[in-house]
Amino acid sequence: MPETPNSEIRNPQLEHTTVLLREAVALLAPRPGGVYLDGTLGGGGHAEEILHRSAPDGVLIGLDQDADAVARSRERLAGYGKRAVIVQANFRAVTQVLAGLGIDALDGVLLDLGLSWFHLRNPERGFSFQTEGPLDMRMNAGSPTTAADLVNNLPQQELARIIREYGEEKKANAIAKAIERARGRGPITSTVQLAQIVSSVFPPYPPRRTHPATLTFQALRIAVNDEMNALREGLGAAVTVLKPGGRIAIISFHSLEDRIVKQAYVEHAKGCICPPRLPVCRCEKKADLKILTRRPVMASDSEVAGNPASRSAKLRAAEKL
Ligand SMILES: C[S@@+](CC[C@H](N)C(=O)[O-])C[C@H]1O[C@@H](n2cnc3c(N)ncnc32)[C@H](O)[C@@H]1O
Repeated sequence: MPETPNSEIRNPQLEHTTVLLREAVALLAPRPGGVYLDGTLGGGGHAEEILHRSAPDGVLIGLDQDADAVARSRERLAGYGKRAVIVQANFRAVTQVLAGLGIDALDGVLLDLGLSWFHLRNPERGFSFQTEGPLDMRMNAGSPTTAADLVNNLPQQELARIIREYGEEKKANAIAKAIERARGRGPITSTVQLAQIVSSVFPPYPPRRTHPATLTFQALRIAVNDEMNALREGLGAAVTVLKPGGRIAIISFHSLEDRIVKQAYVEHAKGCICPPRLPVCRCEKKADLKILTRRPVMASDSEVAGNPASRSAKLRAAEKL
């Protein structure tokens, strides 16, 4: 079994750099004998630290919907033997996955949302507007709908809605219109082609400013992978399956995700919601979470200096009552 997790000595040029590693795992507080779920294995960095901190007999159930992430994590965590149980699955199906494994309660759940560096690095996956690749963006390569399907087939209004809602992009209508015009001339099939269409709506892009296609790509990726619904469902199911005293820690990377996490925690932390004029409680709602992070935990200056992608990370944690 590895003595120390090697996440921190990995070369950030070649690997996914785990974000808020110490902070997230400290809030999860893994201990020997506990059963933990990492719903977003990615490169396996958080998972390895959880295994390390729950030695000698803690168990880590690791999920990822991406087959490559599963294969990489299996290799990285092979030294932990039966303590690491790795399954290719969407975390929204956590209840079914745990039932299949015969596990009915967890001591902790970690979600580190979004893409890994491996997704962005591989042009074939179609996540990056910087490199030419097919317009794909599926985290699970077996799921039926690609970004090209959405871009070429959705009505203009629906495209505008997705770009506005999931990208919070002010020019959503103009971008959808430019896409509609371009696809009239032939299908839009590549990342760079789409990036150029989106850029045509903006004044020329000065180097070193955010690329004009950033928010549109984010919006399409969220839609392709149904990320908001997966988060809502996965979070709800995870809270249900936590043991009293068990903890949930979620790292999000944009305001839409963070809002869902924050609101869900607040909702779970609330007891009776009957109007004050009622003399006795009728709703029977009971709080089942205690919020551990009133404000989100953010990456330190030194982490951001070493890994600029950590700048937007927000970590929120709660404990089951
Ligand atoms: C930011 S990376 C995780 C990195 C990981 N914590 C580490 O230390 O290497 C996010 C991973 O979550 C996966 N993912 C995103 N949404 C998912 C979902 N709904 N179900 C399962 N995996 C998901 C992605 O495929 C990606 O590999």
